[in-house]
Amino acid sequence: MKITDLKKKAGKFTLQIEDLTLEEGAVHGFVGGNGCGKTTLAKLIMGILPSDSGRIDLGKLSNLEMTMTSQRPYLLHKSVYENIIFPLKIRKWEIDDGFIEEMLEACGLLEKKNQYARSLSSGERQKVSLIRALIFKPKLIIIDETFSNMDIESVKLFEKLILENQRKDPRTFIMISHQLAHIYKMCDYVHFFSKGRIIDSGTVEDIFHKSNNEIIRNYMETQMIEKRGNI
Ligand SMILES: Nc1ncnc2c1ncn2[C@@H]1O[C@H](COP(=O)(O)OP(=O)(O)OP(=O)(O)O)[C@@H](O)[C@H]1O
Ligand SMILES: [Mg+2]
Repeated sequence: MKITDLKKKAGKFTLQIEDLTLEEGAVHGFVGGNGCGKTTLAKLIMGILPSDSGRIDLGKLSNLEMTMTSQRPYLLHKSVYENIIFPLKIRKWEIDDGFIEEMLEACGLLEKKNQYARSLSSGERQKVSLIRALIFKPKLIIIDETFSNMDIESVKLFEKLILENQRKDPRTFIMISHQLAHIYKMCDYVHFFSKGRIIDSGTVEDIFHKSNNEIIRNYMETQMIEKRGNI
């Protein structure tokens, strides 16, 4: 995917991406402080928001092959199971109930299979939205802070599932998260945002360990200190 001279204004904020290439089949991290444009870019890529100018070249990707999950996922007024099978149903694809039950059991939701999805807790909603996103194996999956309310065992379960699948059948992922440990573990590449621009892109090692950019170094250090402080 290639993004060129993209511009989007929202109130006083302007997102401006001059040149960004996202390698297919890799896991990309969008990192940066609050309000720097990560979700805006994700929505532009998904076509949820129109851009003011510039170009997003999705290559051969069609919008049926991409999905995005958010921190507060949108769930249909239906059961957990009906939500999960929705992407398969609209495509008239086969439903693998064995896999669904396995996933629900692994993340502690099997007994809630027929529960009204909107009655779930926030972390449970995030799990359902992730299963719903992964189940139809889209070629591009944007995960916008969908792990934020999940317990550590569930985070590890999804991390393992995604990384194992990447080895067998690589997909393009965009992970947006403030959890640097999660980004470090999952991502091949990191794109660091500040004030509506990407100020550095590179491999996860380059950005975490070798960046000389002061904003990035400060961000990393603050996160580390806060982490230590919490222990
Ligand atoms: N409709 C709007 N009107 C005014 N400002 C807007 C509008 N939509 C977005 N913004 C502003 O755009 C900026 C970027 O928002 P965005 O959601 O992309 O940030 P983010 O990097 O995802 O932040 P966070 O880490 O908090 O999720 C914010 O400052 C936000 O207030
Ligand atoms: Mg956001």
